[in-house]
This record gives sequence, structure tokens and C-alpha cells, in this order.
Amino acid sequence: LNMKARGSLLKFLQKVDTFVHRTIGTNVVAAQEEREGCKSLYAVEAERQEQAERSVLISCHSRTNEKKFLNFLSRHGDINKYFFYESYGMYALVEFTNQESLSSLFEAAAIPSVSHESIVPFKSRLLSLRNLGSMESPNHQVGQQCQLQTSIPINKLIQRLSREESIDQQITSLTDVYQLTEENSRLRFLVCSLLKDIAAAYFPESTIKAFGSSVNGFGKLGCDLDMFLDLDGISEKCAKMPRSGLWLEYQMKQAISERAVTQSILSVIGDCVDQFGPGCVGVQKILNARCPLVRFTHQPSGFQCDLTANNRVAIKSTELLYLYGELDPRVRHLVFTVRCWARAHGITSSIPGAWITNFSLTVMVLFFLQRRSPPIIPTLDNLRDLAGPTDKSVIEGNDCTFVSDFSKIHLQSNTETLEKLLCEFFEFYATFAFNKMSISIRKGKELNKPEMAPLHIQNPFESSLNVSKNVNVTQLDRFVAVCQESSWLLQQKETSTPNEGKAPTPWGLAALLMPSKVAGIKGRKKRRREPASERIKSLLESLKTTN
Ligand code: GTP
Ligand code: MG
Repeated sequence: LNMKARGSLLKFLQKVDTFVHRTIGTNVVAAQEEREGCKSLYAVEAERQEQAERSVLISCHSRTNEKKFLNFLSRHGDINKYFFYESYGMYALVEFTNQESLSSLFEAAAIPSVSHESIVPFKSRLLSLRNLGSMESPNHQVGQQCQLQTSIPINKLIQRLSREESIDQQITSLTDVYQLTEENSRLRFLVCSLLKDIAAAYFPESTIKAFGSSVNGFGKLGCDLDMFLDLDGISEKCAKMPRSGLWLEYQMKQAISERAVTQSILSVIGDCVDQFGPGCVGVQKILNARCPLVRFTHQPSGFQCDLTANNRVAIKSTELLYLYGELDPRVRHLVFTVRCWARAHGITSSIPGAWITNFSLTVMVLFFLQRRSPPIIPTLDNLRDLAGPTDKSVIEGNDCTFVSDFSKIHLQSNTETLEKLLCEFFEFYATFAFNKMSISIRKGKELNKPEMAPLHIQNPFESSLNVSKNVNVTQLDRFVAVCQESSWLLQQKETSTPNEGKAPTPWGLAALLMPSKVAGIKGRKKRRREPASERIKSLLESLKTTN
């Protein structure tokens, strides 16, 4: 190039530079403003809990006339929100504007008399609306909009994604269909609130809070409902013993440990749920697990519920995941995509065992996003350094402090597309040195593995623990093999670009969700090579973890 041409090229590049800088700068400012408007998980939960307290669940006939249904219920007060759904029958969630409406509703509700059963007069907010004559007349217009409470099957998802125009659109579309809906979130909080009414029989001031994927922003329609019996509010009040005045007299049986106390509380609540919890079936008390729990199905909502107590580290993990998900929309999109991809290839499973769990997988995605250049999300140590005095939290000697004020977090301007990030994710883990390195989102970098587990992911709040201790070599190998295959598929023109034609064949993300050619083969080969002693060892490990 001659000098003049060089000069104009330079000027042009400077203009491009300024433009890019301005555009990204504006995006960064906009994103920062958006973050400042983000509600903390506490605020979201408080709002949802309050809504749930004003709500009831009503079992009704499938031909219920919506208008008449509303007229009937409106006699008890204004209705703020309602929706119908199906779960072993038709149900409606009805949220009144005022809580007083519930008393009016209960006054009008009869307790049925059944000749062959003795009735426990426990008035729960699960009601039945039956035999209201013309309300159920077949001549009336029926078929009120039923809100789906489960996600669409994988083959339908693949068809839908194949019709999108770019991989970025496929990823956002997957999140749209899989994420919890507004209605499903309300139903989850209502089930917690119904359970709280049962727990309140023993502990009137206790609350039941949701945690895990129901509230961390990564929940898929149909995921389990993790609940936590919160007695801390009560014990905090008891902490200060007055010098004079009144205090409560109670029978104290010395328990040998905090764990024993948790087990006995869960045991009585479990019995209560079993005996008096309307719609609660298949109650199992799994009290010897590392984290004791009561598991049951809440039939009217269709949720598989896990009730724990004294599980404060898991609550902190939930808050942390929620925060990361709110920082940048790409976090949630990528987590949803990777979770769905992993489920499609049997890398994760609903049965406990040597599989990678959704929680471990989420931490792996977060770690990958911290390793981008520039990083998309900060490390946990960064978040701890930004914490204010009220954020301080130490649980059983572990520092769980991190910032809660979103506006204090300033992100670097990384503008990578979702497509690019997905390809890089597979590449990153297809070549990761799992044999030597551990994954740490606290430090945001690989650390030397402290123990010889096949996959080592440092527990964010209990750094000496490995969250993927249950994973065996076979499962890790399958994960790596499917990462390699997916990375390869995304590099092939035929599978990574949309195809013309009326019935589009799966491409891009849709192709990645199709049955893998390598996963099964690698898994089988590995299993044959693994000596029996190894297999027994990993089986024992997985049983220990499950317990
Ligand atoms: P799905 O239920 O699979 O949709 O995801 P989930 O995130 O709810 O996972 P899960 O029900 O297994 O666990 C509930 C919550 O407990 C998680 O979101 C975490 O906050 C926490 N948790 C689960 N496993 C671990 C672990 O190994 N270590 C820590 N610190 N927390 C965990
Ligand atoms: Mg869960």
C-alpha cells in the first residue's frame, strides 16, 4: 500500500474502532443499568411467598365452565390471578387479592363425611369444587386454557429447533420452551406454602423455602422441588436470654448432634406429611443420607418434592447460581443448553448414581465462562471481595460471603455469541486435563487435583469437598467423547448450517441432541476394560453418595 492508501485505511480502522467501542460501551452501560434493576433472590422469594399465602389449589371437573367458576369464587373476594392445569385431574390455582378471602372460602367449605374412613379435620388450602349443576353442563363452552406444567418431549424440541434460522436462535428457543413458566413458579411456591401449614402444626413460626433449580433460574419444567424447613428465624429469636422477664418453658431432650436434631425434626414432619398432607403420596424418610431428607410426590401439582432442614450451604449455592444467571443472559442460555444436551445423551440421569449431576454440570459451565478472555462472569473470590458487611456469612466454619448488591458488580465487555460459546464449551472440555486438574469457580482457574477422583470439581463453599465425587471413569469418558463429537459436528458445514427444504432435517443444536454415535460405544468398551474391583469400588462409592 502507498502512504495515502495506508493513511485512509488507518483512518477507516480508527472509525471502526470508535464505533465498536461506542457500541460495546453502550451495551455495557445498558447491561449495568439492567443489573442494577435486578431483584435479589430474597426479594423475589418474599414476593412469591406472599402471593402463595393468598392462594388456594382447587381440584375441579375437567368440563368446568371458566366464567361460572370465577363467578362462584369471586363471592369470597377479588381474584388477582388464576390458571387451570392438569395433574392426575384438573386443578386451578387461584390467587385472591386479600388473604381474608381465604377465611370466607373456608367458612363456606364443607368437610366431607366418608363412611369407611375417619376424617382428620385438617383444613388445608387444597379444595375440591364439585357438582355445581349447570356449571358442569356439557352444553357450556369448555376447554379453558390448560397451562402446561411439563416440558415438551425431546423429539418435538428437535423439530422445533430445526426450524430456527441460527444456532443463537436455537439456543434462546430451547431456553424459552424449557424454563419454568410464571405459572409453574407460582405453583412451586404454593406447594411450599401448603407444606408450611403442615410444619406449622409443630413449629408455628417456621417457613418452608424453595431452593435449587426451582428458584436459581436454571429450572426446567418438570424439575424436582427442593424445599428447606427454615427454623432459623425461631432460634435466632431465642438466642438472647433475657436477664429478667419471661422465657419459654420447654422440655429439652439433649440431642447428640445438630444432625440428630435435624433427623428427628424431619422424622416428625415426614410422619405429619404422610398422615395429614392432602395429595402427598409415597412419603419416604431418607434420614441417613449425608443431607437427611423426606421425599414424596405432591400429586395435585405433580412435583417430586425433597424436604430438607438445616441445609444452609445449599441455600447459599442457590443464591450464588441465581446471581450468576442474572449477571449475563448468556449464562442461563448456555446452562439450559448444556443441561438439555447432557440429558439427551444420558450424561445426566434422574436416577442417582455415577452420573454427572446437573449441579456439577452448571458449575462446569460457570467455570468455562470465567475462563473466557475477557471473562464473562467474575470468580467467587471477586464476588466475596465486593461483599458489604451485611453480606457476611459463615456456615459451619465455611466462608460463604459474597456480594448481594448487583450494582457493585462490573463486568468486562465480552461480546462472544452463544454459538461461539457453545462450540468453545465442547472444545474446552474435550481437551481438559481432567487427570491432573480440578475445576474451581472460587478461583476461576484450574487447580491441581487434591485427590484421585476421575472428575474433581471443588465445592464452591466447602473447598475441601468434591461435588462430583460420585462420577466414575466411564461416565467422565462418555462426557468427553460426546463433547468431542459435538464439537466436531458444529465444525461440519452440513450439520452446522440450516438446510433448505420443507421438512428441515436436524441441524446445529438440534443435531447435537440426536442420539450420539460415540457415547454408547465408548461406554461399553470402557466397561469391559475396567477391572471388576474398580466396578465394585465405584458402585460402592455411588451407593455411599446416594445414601
Ligand atoms: P435439578 O433438580 O437436577 O434440576 O437441579 P438442582 O440444581 O435443583 O439440583 P439438586 O436438586 O440435585 O440440588 C438442589 C440444590 O442443592 C442445588 O441447586 C445446589 O444449590 C445444592 N447442591 C446440590 N448438590 C450439591 C453439592 O454437591 N454441593 C453443594 N454445595 N450444593 C449442592
Ligand atoms: Mg433440584
